[in-house]
Amino acid sequence: MRIREAIDYYKEEEKNRKFMTSVCNKNNWNVYKDSDLSNMLDDFGGVLPPLSYIEHQCNYARIIEPIFEKKNGQVVLLEMGGPARELAESFSKNFLKKSAGCTLKKGLSKEMKHKKVHNHTIIIGDMFLQKTKEKIDKWLDGDKVDILIERMQAGLDLIPRNGVWIWKQFNDWYKMVNEGGIMLIQTYSTPFSSCRSDLLVPDDVFEQWGKVVSQNKSLEFKSDVFNQHFLLRKLPGAPERLPVVT
Ligand SMILES: C[S@@+](CC[C@H](N)C(=O)[O-])C[C@H]1O[C@@H](n2cnc3c(N)ncnc32)[C@H](O)[C@@H]1O
Repeated sequence: MRIREAIDYYKEEEKNRKFMTSVCNKNNWNVYKDSDLSNMLDDFGGVLPPLSYIEHQCNYARIIEPIFEKKNGQVVLLEMGGPARELAESFSKNFLKKSAGCTLKKGLSKEMKHKKVHNHTIIIGDMFLQKTKEKIDKWLDGDKVDILIERMQAGLDLIPRNGVWIWKQFNDWYKMVNEGGIMLIQTYSTPFSSCRSDLLVPDDVFEQWGKVVSQNKSLEFKSDVFNQHFLLRKLPGAPERLPVVT
């Protein structure tokens, strides 16, 4: 897609998103509304270090927290596509500096509605729109994100199947991430929750892109091509932009 076409596409997409949002508002998201870390990490099994069954049952945070040992208390968490309250609650007390979830609507359970989560913000809005991105920037207030998770499951159905557009969104997320920070991204929802059968990213493109990213030694990259999810960690000297498939 040429630049001109891409710009036109983005403009059109801004209009489409209004429609998408109204579709979503009719969807109750009956499952996976405000999942905790253990529920989310179940979907990232292909890219995380194995823990024993017992450890899994006890504390999923043990997989993530050691990565940020030196930053304890200063870790910034952002979920794209979910309220992230249970997620933030899954970490040890005082591990996070602040946390936020960006979601189209709150979608909280009755119990959660009244639960206070320390230093947590729910950012309501379509995360692909400029005005929501500005809200996220405001919340960041000069900080960068250490843990960025997107595990939208059926929410992925609302994302347009356009490689250039998707790359741009991932790149915007990537730019928010700190050196040493990780992105855990799902691009395929488990079939029982999905209404769409077409993949967000075609398998061959996902695989090719993964190979390009893996070649960069300042990026730690693990992907599960079959289940379409990936973990990306920015190491010192990481490029300013996400690598692209040429
Ligand atoms: C099935 S729920 C998953 C919620 C959460 N990630 C979890 O795993 O419990 C789908 C979520 O995607 C969110 N979502 C879908 N499209 C979105 C968008 N464009 N911007 C922000 N949130 C979006 C919905 O608001 C909803 O919270």
